Amino acid sequence: MEHSPAFTCQAQEGLILCLTSLGFLSSMLQGSLCIYVAGIGGKTGPATERSSICSRSIPRGATSFDVHGTSGVRVHIIYNHDLVREPMSEPRWPLDAKIEITITMDFPSETVNDNKVNHHLLVTEAVAGGAIRKVDFKPTCLFGFCPISFAFPQQSKWTWGPDGHGAVLLVNCDRDSVGSGGMDSTHPSTNLLVCYLQDMSLMILRTQGPSALFAENKLVLQVPASDADKVRVFHAAGNDSYSQYKPVLGPDKLSYVVDHASRQEITFYVEGLAFPDQDFSGLVFFSVTLLESFPDTPVFTDTVVFRVSPWIMTPNTLQPLEVFVCSIERDANPNVDFLSAMRALVKKANCKLTVCPQLENRRDRWIQDELEFGYVEAPHKLFPVVFDSPRNRGLQNFPLRRILGPDFGYVTREPPKSQVSGLDSFGNLDVSPPVMVQGKEYPLGRILIGSFFPRSGGRRMAKVIRDFLYAQVVQAPVEVYSDWLNVGHVDEFLTFVPASDRKGFRLLLASPRACYQLFEEKQQQGHGDAAQFTGLAGMAIITIDEILANETLRRSNRYAQNCIDWNRKILKQQLGLSEEDIIDIPQLFVLRDSYADSFFPDLVNLVVLGTHLGIPKPFGPIVDGQCCLEEKVRSLLEPLGLTCTFINDFFSYFELAGDVHCGTNVLRKPFSFQWWNMIP
Ligand SMILES: *[C@@H]1O[C@H](CO)[C@@H](O)[C@H](O)[C@H]1NC(C)=O
Ligand SMILES: *[C@@H]1O[C@H](CO)[C@@H](O)[C@H](O)[C@H]1NC(C)=O
Repeated sequence: MEHSPAFTCQAQEGLILCLTSLGFLSSMLQGSLCIYVAGIGGKTGPATERSSICSRSIPRGATSFDVHGTSGVRVHIIYNHDLVREPMSEPRWPLDAKIEITITMDFPSETVNDNKVNHHLLVTEAVAGGAIRKVDFKPTCLFGFCPISFAFPQQSKWTWGPDGHGAVLLVNCDRDSVGSGGMDSTHPSTNLLVCYLQDMSLMILRTQGPSALFAENKLVLQVPASDADKVRVFHAAGNDSYSQYKPVLGPDKLSYVVDHASRQEITFYVEGLAFPDQDFSGLVFFSVTLLESFPDTPVFTDTVVFRVSPWIMTPNTLQPLEVFVCSIERDANPNVDFLSAMRALVKKANCKLTVCPQLENRRDRWIQDELEFGYVEAPHKLFPVVFDSPRNRGLQNFPLRRILGPDFGYVTREPPKSQVSGLDSFGNLDVSPPVMVQGKEYPLGRILIGSFFPRSGGRRMAKVIRDFLYAQVVQAPVEVYSDWLNVGHVDEFLTFVPASDRKGFRLLLASPRACYQLFEEKQQQGHGDAAQFTGLAGMAIITIDEILANETLRRSNRYAQNCIDWNRKILKQQLGLSEEDIIDIPQLFVLRDSYADSFFPDLVNLVVLGTHLGIPKPFGPIVDGQCCLEEKVRSLLEPLGLTCTFINDFFSYFELAGDVHCGTNVLRKPFSFQWWNMIP
């Protein structure tokens, strides 16, 4: 498009130097506005020389704009007369018509952000809904170049929320290349596959200006030393028939002198190498600096910032895509029947089943504990990422060998071996559905971690894992108390199920109180001789009368109930729940060496596949031909639109101290809500 100047303004003589980070958030996709700033006097140029310029993005919802300068500032609007008619209303210039603004100043600034020289520029934006936003800024001229405070969102700032802006970077932690061992980010290559490039974000450097200026000065792309091990930047070199990608910035390269003569627009590809963590906020800054040579003097700098996508967990309320379960055949506790029950359930729920064979699981059936599925997201790309727990039993190699792959990333955190406890298994890691807590929204829910508090000197999830989880910031973790349990996992006493009413879910809590209530009711109805564990070969039965008369069992369950009540308070407070959001599921516990185990298959240790629940079969007392525990659970959950399938896991899982949830893992569809639209 030709721009015909409305004023005598030699824009083509101006210098354009701007660094643009692509992989923009949606609100940033609407285009960019060029502001030309010209200085008078100064070190390098005559009064008429055009100087610095930057492209800035337009705020969401803005439709038109206007610019006025105070005395001493002259504003020139350059536009194409064929496309834009000089508008009459105010603010008048449409934002979509490639209009350029040139600003000249009658006097040079003495310093950056010079307050003495009263240069003001008022930019008015008409925003959707008719609102008007006014931004006042002071242009400063220095050495003939004018780094100014920009009216439009700065790319050197990254802001959260629906009106936020900034670019997003993904950790290139998947493995697109066949045959290579680790993640793509671990081997920089110059022959990048297209699928590698798709995992990266773009960074564009635009340069334009008098060629003499570039001949005399150097253009240097830089990354701060603190960020250098978090990213790698590739320069797209080569020609139309042969493209090459040269790593130019990264762990051992802090700066790169750009060969500016070749192109006016240079494309860089940026990959993330590290997730946000305790020592890394996730923000990475790049700058391009025009250096006047001999001696090197920075003349003008433009900066962009990217934020590395956090790792995001998926709660039970999200649609299941694929269920993982281990096959254990040659073992004292084979799970053949369990597998066929799971196969039938997964079919009903219409998702995929992946069975990890014994050769790969090495008799480790606790696939919930070995890994946690999550994902990363940028506007241009989303892929699932498996978080590998440090528990490292038989399934140790499964996430790296079988899950990591094309568009399936991998991350892990390893504490020193001596510090790994049972609480580092990911059955002890869960996430709530989206919640609102005292006016604060958690649109991606909150992570739940089982911890030792209030027990003193107990087990706690390793610091490196907790640090990682906290650093992702979008699902602010809540620590609850799980160290009262022998295995010590949150999934032994809580879970979430979808519901069509209220908040879209219910929290299920294991409840000894509800179990005693139920059994007492059945006793009063004359069913005191109905027995727990009926029909299980080799298991001694125990009647309702015997259970109710056993004081040791009562004491154990009062303790378990107190521990769960403690958690109930934390969960209500930290997830903003009321009693109506919680369902008490009958459950008994036994104490062994002052740690609790479930007395019968743990009913809340279930798998949620849409509206289909796979629940451990409790083998409760049979009353009127029905298991009274199953009947009770159905009466609590079926009104929510859920279907209960009770799965016999007694010898294959329960006897080994776990149940259905511990023995399964579910890859779920990511949230449709995009993480950058929240305010953490
Ligand atoms: C493109 O670059 C390659 C490698 O540098 C070179 O061998 C080839 O001749 C170039 N092709 C053209 C059309 O310039
Ligand atoms: C009471 O229950 C506990 C725990 O199951 C058991 O060890 C104990 O033998 C029971 N006592 C009686 C008297 O049945």
